[in-house]
Amino acid sequence: MVREILRLKDELHAVILAHYYQDSIIQEIADIRGDSFELSRRARDVDAEVIVFAGVHFMAETAKILNPGKTVLLPDMNAGCSLAESAPAHLFERYRAMHPDHLAVTYINCTAEVKALSDIICTSSSAESIIEKIPSDTPILFSPDKNLGAYMRHKTGRPMLLWQGVCTVHEQFSAQRIQALRQRWPGAEVIAHPECEGVVLRMADFIGSTSALLRYVLESDVRRFIVATEAGILYEMQKTAPEKEFIAAPPDNACACNICDYMKVNTLEKLYLCMRNRSPEIHIDDALRRRALRPIERMLELADADEVSAAQILSEISLPYSGAQGKSASL
Ligand code: 13P
Ligand code: SF4
Repeated sequence: MVREILRLKDELHAVILAHYYQDSIIQEIADIRGDSFELSRRARDVDAEVIVFAGVHFMAETAKILNPGKTVLLPDMNAGCSLAESAPAHLFERYRAMHPDHLAVTYINCTAEVKALSDIICTSSSAESIIEKIPSDTPILFSPDKNLGAYMRHKTGRPMLLWQGVCTVHEQFSAQRIQALRQRWPGAEVIAHPECEGVVLRMADFIGSTSALLRYVLESDVRRFIVATEAGILYEMQKTAPEKEFIAAPPDNACACNICDYMKVNTLEKLYLCMRNRSPEIHIDDALRRRALRPIERMLELADADEVSAAQILSEISLPYSGAQGKSASL
């Protein structure tokens, strides 16, 4: 199957992008691996005709929004996300209308409809630098991850209204069981993704996006880590730092809840089939795509922007919010 996938990749002039939470065999086959931010950036820049996205639906949809002329394939359309599901567009629109003076900074884990209703998209690795570039007197709605939002509130000191969504994987970690592991392995560091609950984040030695966690373990002198994020990242950590030990942080129950079932519906066989059949393919209405595009572009632009260009990017956002199509005074 691996041989066939590589053959189809040539035949289709395709590139395979994989999130670090994918099965190790899929990560191994992928041309590009990364966290949500890196994958969005690489998806914008690839020059292949076909993008095969081994990740969840919102990631593949983001790649399509950035590349309307390319074919974007997702091995299984059921690869959803609890955060995206927590924010239906009609409720989000009502929420925005209730807070028209607030700027909507929305985590990339959401649908295209919600992106289109937002001002700026962010990822876990770009949220802090984006929020810090927003004028301090502008109130912010942060959606849909309440844990990442609360962490950003703490890091930036900015008051923010938080949508009450959670990642069902990251909110499962047990602070008590992590503490027990720490006592068993003195010297081990706890590292955590900001989608975890505050009680876990407060005990972490380092907090960061998937890629930031990976970089941290490579650069640190510490030998043993208790890792509070989806267990798929352990494969890349162990591969790049074989001399170190990585212990998956335990959930607060007996199930394997540190595995994202949405990510894992993609299998090697489905990857092969989607390339062979050129299906399932992501399609998106063009008017919606255009409305969702600018908030994503703002994220990519703001991540690299200096103060002057950030102010320029932000000045095109209209507040107070006056509905999906509305425009009024600039920020
Ligand atoms: P990052 O890729 O930004 O680390 O986010 C993790 C995640 O849960 C993706 O769905
Ligand atoms: Fe969504 Fe959490 Fe799975 Fe990431 S790990 S796709 S945030 S449910």
